[in-house]
Amino acid sequence: MINLVVKDLNKRFGGLHVLKDVSFEINGPELIGLIGPNGAGKTTLTNVLDGAIKPNSGTVYLNGERIDQLQPFEVAREGLGRTFQVTRSFRRMTVLENMLVPALALDHAHSRAEIVEKAMEVLEFLTIDHLRNEHAQALSGGQQKLLELGRLLMLNPAVIILDEPFAGVHPRLMEVIYRYIERVNESGSAIILISHQMDSIFSLCKRLLVLNYGDLIADGAPETVKNDPVVIEAYLGVDEEDDETHGTPEEEGATP
Ligand SMILES: Nc1ncnc2c1ncn2[C@@H]1O[C@H](COP(=O)(O)OP(=O)(O)OP(=O)(O)O)[C@@H](O)[C@H]1O
Ligand SMILES: [Mg+2]
Repeated sequence: MINLVVKDLNKRFGGLHVLKDVSFEINGPELIGLIGPNGAGKTTLTNVLDGAIKPNSGTVYLNGERIDQLQPFEVAREGLGRTFQVTRSFRRMTVLENMLVPALALDHAHSRAEIVEKAMEVLEFLTIDHLRNEHAQALSGGQQKLLELGRLLMLNPAVIILDEPFAGVHPRLMEVIYRYIERVNESGSAIILISHQMDSIFSLCKRLLVLNYGDLIADGAPETVKNDPVVIEAYLGVDEEDDETHGTPEEEGATP
C-alpha cells in the first residue's frame, strides 16, 4: 500500500514564497499530473519531497514514515525517487555502472548478480541496452533522460516524480517514455508527472494537481480541472505552445 501525505508545506527563498501551505495525499498507485505555469513551484515541490531542500514548515509522510527532514539518499531508500529537469548522471561512468550505483549502495536485499540482471532488463526495455558500456557523457540528451528513468527503477520506488521527462526529447523517445510510465504505474508505483505538454498529461493522468505560484489551486479529475474557471484563468487559458520544452528537440534517437 502506498500512502504519501503532504501537509501544509511552505518554502521560502528569501522574500519569495514559493510553496504556500501545499497539502495533498496519494493513496495507492495513482498516476497524477502536476501542472502549472513556469515558476509555479513544481520543481521546488519535487526538491522538498525528495529531501534535496528542507521546507520552512509542513510535513511529508511516506507510508507512515516522516521523510521531510531526511537526506535524498534516505528518501530514496524509503521509496521515493525523482528525475531531474536537467539530467544528472555520472558522466564518466558507463551506462551500466550508472544503473548499478544506487542499488549496490542502498539495496542490501539483492545480490550483485540479481541487481545486474535487473539493470540489463530495464536498459533493454528502455532500448538503450546496446549502450551499456558507453560512458554516460557519450549519450544524447534524450538517451540520458532514459538512463535516469532506468536508474530510478533500481530501488523499486513506491512513488516516483518525473520532472518534465518529455522536454526536449525526440518523438521516437517520447513513445519509450510513455510506455515506461504506463508499465511502471501498472507494476504498482505511484507517479507524479510534471509536464507542460497537456496532450501527454491528459492522455496519461487520472488526477491533476495544479500549482499556481505556490498555491495548489486544484486537485481532481482531469475533466473537472480542465473546466475549472480558476485553473483556466491561471494556466490553461495561456497559450503554452512555445512553452513545452526548455531545450531543443534532439535529432538523435535511442537506436542508431
Ligand atoms: N534555489 C533557489 N533559490 C531562489 N529562488 C529559487 C530557487 N529555486 C527556485 N527558485 C524560484 O522559485 C520559483 C519556483 O521555481 P520552480 O523551479 O520550482 O518552478 P517550476 O514550476 O518548476 O517552473 P518550470 O515550469 O519553469 O520548471 C521561481 O520563481 C524560481 O526562480
Ligand atoms: Mg520546474
